[in-house]
Amino acid sequence: MDSTNSALLYETERGVDAVDDVQRVLLSEEEIARKVKQLGAAITEDYQGKDLVLVGILKGAIIFLADLMREIKTPVNVDFMAVSSYAEGTTSSGVVRILKDLDLSIENRHILIVEDIVDTGLTLEYLVDILRSRHPASIGVAALLDKPDRRLVDIIPDYLGFSIPDEFVVGYGLDFAEQYRSLPYVGILKPDAYQDA
Ligand code: PRP
Repeated sequence: MDSTNSALLYETERGVDAVDDVQRVLLSEEEIARKVKQLGAAITEDYQGKDLVLVGILKGAIIFLADLMREIKTPVNVDFMAVSSYAEGTTSSGVVRILKDLDLSIENRHILIVEDIVDTGLTLEYLVDILRSRHPASIGVAALLDKPDRRLVDIIPDYLGFSIPDEFVVGYGLDFAEQYRSLPYVGILKPDAYQDA
């Protein structure tokens, strides 16, 4: 592809092709793919020869997990948990209910929790506590996105894709009212799209 075509493609991905509700693309498909590759390489190096279980947190993490696991060039198992936080008004309360638990035993195994986004950090703190009580060999966290401005507890992902501003983001697994998860990029939602909902 010549540079003109490549520039056009980039423009398309930056905006023109976005669904109407997306104000602008924050992270393009290419930027995400590059970062996921780097994260996969770092994880491959760190977990070489170890019994690694990736724990994807439904539903937002599915796309990131699917891409990340293919960039990890050492054998991995994969499992899922689904949790729901009891909200107090519009903010999370820190109380999390397990809707789907792991199928695999994690005792003496190396666990890497895979999240799409860390916001207040309350979900992650709860998950780490729960999983730690099951005596894994280690627990790490890989998150695609982090909103440090929103953090309520002191928790930092071991593998992080991008720190982002406190904007309403959707796509690449992230939803608003279960929509937009299939967008290939991370975009900022227009206020109209969630204020009218
Ligand atoms: C999101 C995200 C994390 C959690 C982060 O899940 O996937 O699990 O919120 O928020 P916190 O740091 O404030 O606890 P969500 O409840 O939106 O569910 P989903 O993944 O099914 O969309």
